[in-house]
Amino acid sequence: MIQVAIMGHGVVGSGVCSILTTHKKKLYSAIGEEVYIKRILDLREFPDSPLADRFTKEFNDILTDVEIRVVAEVMGGIHPAYEFTAQLLKSGKSVVTSNKELVATHGAELLAIAKENNANYLFEASVGGGIPILRPMNQCLVANNVHEVAGILNGTTNFILTKMIDDGMEFDDALKLAQELGFAERNPAADVEGHDACRKICILASLASGKHVYPKGIHTEGITNISLNDVKYASSFNSVIKLIGDVKFLENGKLDIFVAPMIVNRHSQLANIDNEFNGIMVRGDCTDDVVFYGKGAGSLPTASAVVADIIDCCKHLKARKYLFWADSNNENVLPYNESVTAVYLRFSTNDKEASIAEVKDLFGDIVQLSITNESENEFAVVTKAMTIGEINDKLNQVKKSKLLSNIRIADL
Ligand code: HSE
Repeated sequence: MIQVAIMGHGVVGSGVCSILTTHKKKLYSAIGEEVYIKRILDLREFPDSPLADRFTKEFNDILTDVEIRVVAEVMGGIHPAYEFTAQLLKSGKSVVTSNKELVATHGAELLAIAKENNANYLFEASVGGGIPILRPMNQCLVANNVHEVAGILNGTTNFILTKMIDDGMEFDDALKLAQELGFAERNPAADVEGHDACRKICILASLASGKHVYPKGIHTEGITNISLNDVKYASSFNSVIKLIGDVKFLENGKLDIFVAPMIVNRHSQLANIDNEFNGIMVRGDCTDDVVFYGKGAGSLPTASAVVADIIDCCKHLKARKYLFWADSNNENVLPYNESVTAVYLRFSTNDKEASIAEVKDLFGDIVQLSITNESENEFAVVTKAMTIGEINDKLNQVKKSKLLSNIRIADL
């Protein structure tokens, strides 16, 4: 029997308990031993739980119990998850987590502590929920030089955008619905402002580059400014708007990394990933595009990945899994101004003809978009590719109209 503990009994933690209980036989057959939940840490009371006698409010009950070999940290947030994880790893226990905020902020340090103490720190559930992505990237795709990883990494925003695109629903109503369905973070700002997706693309970039990429300073835009008119103009361009986390590994060693809404052509695999689903495209030099698709949020999908990591730790109690990246100070991150892209621009104006002429003069070749019932006071164009710095310089020179939207065109 291998004894484990779970820290946190929220959406993911209760899912982990549920899978470990209901899939006992299946898991036994995977490792030839029973996985026994010895302790569950939570400050709340769960008197009706069938595991009520195993709950504790004391972290030390887990830390000092030498029989507990593997701990799932599914509390979320940085504190006290960071301190607890560091202490557990130092005591030689392996830790698995779905906590993307912690991995994105302290991953390099916690991986180093795990290595020093011959323990494992695994976090498959931190990106893409139930979608296997970190292990495939680290193992199955290891022969490739990866050029780019791009994905729809946040279920809440993808759900909201899908409702806006398919049902013409307003942003606020779609967000409310996502919260009711339990996809959203405790604070939905982390979802709608892109921070959750940023943490996830940073984890993917760290894994692919072997150096920690910290979210601080990474260009991060959310979807709060996307309007139904943007959705319509995108549709007229045979495209949909998706919130994309993207990292390109440039030949000069720099990482062109950002999170932003993007206009994605309907032919792209990522354009067809809807509702709360996530999709991640890995572009390798041997494989070409490989796409991973599935549920990126929710109790059981996320818990499925946490339990798989528990099982992996149980299989490797005496050996280390090779999952590691070095620390860095983001020195390899390309300044956002140097990122190259075409953009969709929407303007308001009192003189459409003169405004379009001005935008043409500044940007050169542009494609003008049109939608049915277009307002006399609005127009939208798509520019050719140039750096963000050049785009901003040109936009600063626009005098005859007011910029309403500025969205990157994806090449995915
Ligand atoms: N709030 C996140 C999402 C949960 O919507 O994708 C999973 O990380």
